[in-house]
Amino acid sequence: MMQQVKEELKNIPTPLYYYDLPLLRETVDVVKSAADRYGYKVHYAIKANNNPRILSEISSLGLGADCVSGTEIEVAIAQGFQSSEIVFAGVGKTDREIEIALKNNILAFNVESVQEIEVIGEIAQSLDTVANIALRINPNVDAKTHHYITTGLDENKFGIMTHELETCLTLIQNNAHLKLIGLHFHVGSQITDLNVFKRLCVKVNEWNQYFYDKGYTLPILNLGGGLGINYMEPDEESIVNFSNFFYLFHQLLELKQGQEVHFELGRSIVANCGSLVSRVLYIKNGLKKNFAILDAGMTELLRPALYQAFHKIEYWSEETDLESDKVEVERYDVVGPICESSDCFGKEVNLPKLKRGDLIAIRSAGAYGEVMSSRYNLRQPLNYFYKE
Ligand code: LLP
Repeated sequence: MMQQVKEELKNIPTPLYYYDLPLLRETVDVVKSAADRYGYKVHYAIKANNNPRILSEISSLGLGADCVSGTEIEVAIAQGFQSSEIVFAGVGKTDREIEIALKNNILAFNVESVQEIEVIGEIAQSLDTVANIALRINPNVDAKTHHYITTGLDENKFGIMTHELETCLTLIQNNAHLKLIGLHFHVGSQITDLNVFKRLCVKVNEWNQYFYDKGYTLPILNLGGGLGINYMEPDEESIVNFSNFFYLFHQLLELKQGQEVHFELGRSIVANCGSLVSRVLYIKNGLKKNFAILDAGMTELLRPALYQAFHKIEYWSEETDLESDKVEVERYDVVGPICESSDCFGKEVNLPKLKRGDLIAIRSAGAYGEVMSSRYNLRQPLNYFYKE
């Protein structure tokens, strides 16, 4: 397999994003059929990866989309997602973005504040249309993940403060251009402890009952995304166990007549199909450590620098077994070329003795990789390789 990869990549400049499209298709098939079992709907969270090839594969396999900007809505539609299967979230939707969403008749606005409801109401009225509203409730469930990607706690900026719910309901009732269609929740990202989702279900059931008792029928319960992946061993579980995930909700949710359950999954769908591939530029032997300096850096994959995130680093020049006696293993700090000390992909990583030009892959980079890349240091545009 590696030899074949090397041949394929030989003449392609690095750094490059390597996308395994068969794995992506298989993942989408698995998530779709696991969700279909219970009639659940999955919206792919476009923010995780908006590469057009990736989007068109996902849309053609029948998922909806979760968008966080007007441009994401436009791109989603251009790449084949049905506008009736698009949900739109975000604490800071602009007037222009709200117009784009309304003109495209999206499924729902996941709204996050009283003022936002007022503005959506005004714009819907001016366009003489009706906006479907799902209230994003902050469930105060600790996702126990990195604090930068925890969103469901009272101290986070996300969701409607519960003391303002009544005001929201009154606003919606008094405007014929607003229609309450459901509730929205999202507790955070890279959640690998399913107990977090159990706690979410408890809160969802409470809120669902609260609205039911008040006489509201809410056709949609959107439980957000956040299902995590195994960054340590990307090949051991290249497709996340979606069946367990959905089964948990199936067991615990207390649905009312006619309610549909929706999810917004990003990372678990695209992370494993992408790797950032780089070449070794230089080896520098320090007094205490060896540095492998790559041609990719935090500008191509920000997660290690921003969240101290772990990504598995692999030698892709040829098939090697690090356990074998024949391979000379060295320990490197694997760093990028950017003028920042945080530009480091991994410390004390065991790799075969490296030389200039060797190929290194940084795995599980399909989610929040390419999308968070930047031109800092006036870096060159990315290169791509799509395994068909
Ligand atoms: N729904 C909402 C409302 C969200 O805020 C997010 C992610 C998702 C769905 C998708 O979550 P996922 O299934 O991908 O976990 N840049 C960070 C992750 C930020 C996640 C933001 N929200 C990272 O690289 O880890």
